[in-house]
Amino acid sequence: MYEKPDYEFYRKSAEYIREKIGTPPAVGIVLGTCLGEIEHEITDKTEIYYKEIPNFLISTAPGHAGKLVCGRLGGKRVLCMAGRFHHYEGYSFEELRIPVYVFKLLGIRTLILTNAAGAVNLNYETGDICVIKDHINLCGVSPQRGENIPELGERFFSMNDVYTPSLRRLAKDAAVELGFSLQEGVYYFAPGPQFETPAEIRAMRLLGADMVGMSTVPEAITAAHCRMDVLGLSLATNLSADRVLDHDVTEDVNNVEDVVSGRFRALLTKIVSRLD
Ligand code: HPA
Repeated sequence: MYEKPDYEFYRKSAEYIREKIGTPPAVGIVLGTCLGEIEHEITDKTEIYYKEIPNFLISTAPGHAGKLVCGRLGGKRVLCMAGRFHHYEGYSFEELRIPVYVFKLLGIRTLILTNAAGAVNLNYETGDICVIKDHINLCGVSPQRGENIPELGERFFSMNDVYTPSLRRLAKDAAVELGFSLQEGVYYFAPGPQFETPAEIRAMRLLGADMVGMSTVPEAITAAHCRMDVLGLSLATNLSADRVLDHDVTEDVNNVEDVVSGRFRALLTKIVSRLD
């Protein structure tokens, strides 16, 4: 569908957005499954539906709205994706870099990636919020495969400290001030849409995974390529497959959302308010 996007391709989307929102914010947020409600915390909004934006993608996943929301959160201006794109919807990994490069071209410096995930670590519970300290991507693919766009980043690039240490610290401090603590762990990328088998979960645990989910990693790799600061936050909406007998994850996801989305919302607002 998107043959060989070049710099101009991404610039066209960014230009359209800039015309609608004026000076772009420095902070971008991607809201994960169940976390879309946080969008309602944003004030002084300008909304742009994805389908209006040239060269952009359209979200098809349930629980994902499909618009950019620009406005104020925690006293700061933010550009928020209410609705993200996933490989399991049929998008290629190459297509999944579009929103991140467009954010980069708008001048976004800090990207906050949120998601719903399964708790692999036996010490994690449903409802825990985990700061991502690193990820594991063993599915053999990269969004950066194909011709490199030098204006956006290097052909070969480091994946050390993709999840910016100072932002991880800031998130943990913000939670403590709000009266709870965060987990900090490794996110395993499983492209889905099927959930994992118990044997897959046991293998992930042996490899050092704490959480498992179907998003975030393609965006984080792209952000590393174009050198953005990244904060990743996972909400454990369910225990991993080997920890539950009757695995109705869809239901778990919706239940937890009701319980903790308030906490997640407060955390995100505080974090944003602290960003430079
Ligand atoms: N596995 C993968 N993705 C998920 C899960 C899970 O258990 N829960 C929410 N997203």
